[in-house]
Amino acid sequence: MTPAGRIQAAIDLLGAVEAEARRPADAIANDFFRTRRYIGSGDRRAVSELAWGAIRQRMRLAWQLERLGSLTDARRLLIAHLLLVEGWPPQKLAGHFTGDRFAPAPLDAAEVELVRRLAGQPLLHPEMPQEVRLNLPGWAAQGLAARFGETLPAEAAAMEGAAPLDLRVNLLKTTREAARLALAAEGIAAEPTPYSPWGLRVADRKPVLNTAAFKDGLVEVQDEGSQLIALLTDARPGMRVADYCAGAAGKTLALAAAMGNRGHIVACDVSAPRLEGAAKRLRRAGVDNAERHLLVPGDKWRKRRGRSFDRVLVDAPCTGSGTWRRNPDARLRTTAQDLAELSAKQAAILADASDLVRPGGRLVYATCSLLPEEDEMQIERFLARHPDFVALPAPALWAGLCPAVPWPAEGPFMALSPARHGTDGFFAAVLERRP
Ligand SMILES: C[S@@+](CC[C@H](N)C(=O)[O-])C[C@H]1O[C@@H](n2cnc3c(N)ncnc32)[C@H](O)[C@@H]1O
Repeated sequence: MTPAGRIQAAIDLLGAVEAEARRPADAIANDFFRTRRYIGSGDRRAVSELAWGAIRQRMRLAWQLERLGSLTDARRLLIAHLLLVEGWPPQKLAGHFTGDRFAPAPLDAAEVELVRRLAGQPLLHPEMPQEVRLNLPGWAAQGLAARFGETLPAEAAAMEGAAPLDLRVNLLKTTREAARLALAAEGIAAEPTPYSPWGLRVADRKPVLNTAAFKDGLVEVQDEGSQLIALLTDARPGMRVADYCAGAAGKTLALAAAMGNRGHIVACDVSAPRLEGAAKRLRRAGVDNAERHLLVPGDKWRKRRGRSFDRVLVDAPCTGSGTWRRNPDARLRTTAQDLAELSAKQAAILADASDLVRPGGRLVYATCSLLPEEDEMQIERFLARHPDFVALPAPALWAGLCPAVPWPAEGPFMALSPARHGTDGFFAAVLERRP
């Protein structure tokens, strides 16, 4: 592909993402390249980099275009990206927009004027509103400001950074040090994570899925923050545990390992395909104390198993505002209405799941969001309606679990953020049903 051809392909990919505002951009990109097999791997990388660059900066680019009265279609977003982010001079841009075979059409008069006004300008404009400057969508800006206060700019910047590749060592099969050595023997350098006693952080994000260590179930890919949620659940050998929103079993695997494969764990979800995906992972990890349960409307299972579990983990569906480093398009896809709907859903799931907790047992509520609406406020509302539950202070629980590592968060709950902890953004609260 010529450099100009790559630009046109990036415009086409960006156009496909813009046209399907509700679908994850990586799924759209996969379809895009699947139907264009002629694009080789080097070109594919270059096209993706351009398109993802514009997706990451979309809010700022669109603001700059709108300020000049321009359309904000994929072509102009990419032009703005090349000028404001990549720092291209106008001549270079015009040299690629030639209309030659596979190249983008020549700039029209309005675009020439646009290029003239944007060229040499910084991406951040003095009149940019704070939320655009910080790359925060309107539906989340207030909540994040409430959580972070003065540190919001540093936190917002960290949310634009690259996420590390973390692994959880499967203690059913190995130790952290042995897994580290096994990976090193396959050319993958990794270091222990700072907070999780089960974690390894892979240097340079080297891919691990093809290593024997991964295929043999010695390690699983899991953000350190996610590992801490499983740790805080404090599932012990012999307990009865429900992972109520288990998905593809990311946390079930960690809980089963903490239980040493003893006791019983039920991985529940409303999604059959996700539970299907869990089966393979459970097998690979050598977990044999877990069953999967598909929750269906009118399910009698919850009633039958009422008040019988020692631990119930609710890893609730959420906006995912803590995972923007990995999914930069999620900030664009979600709306205020989504937040309101998710919040109602979280409250309903939490209330349903609480039925399963035995007296003296614990209910752990977690999200990968940092919005108080999905986190602390959810817990406050639940406790107001369920006086038979009390919140347990997470710092004290942590001190019992990991005495050698200082508790990483503040307050009674666990709130982790990319800037402070290097993890994705996570929240967890531990509640106990009064004996
Ligand atoms: C954050 S994801 C779970 C991720 C998973 N725990 C892990 O660690 O990989 C939330 C899950 O909640 C499930 N879910 C959505 N509505 C639900 C409901 N009403 N009851 C139970 N699970 C639900 C979704 O299908 C999704 O798999």
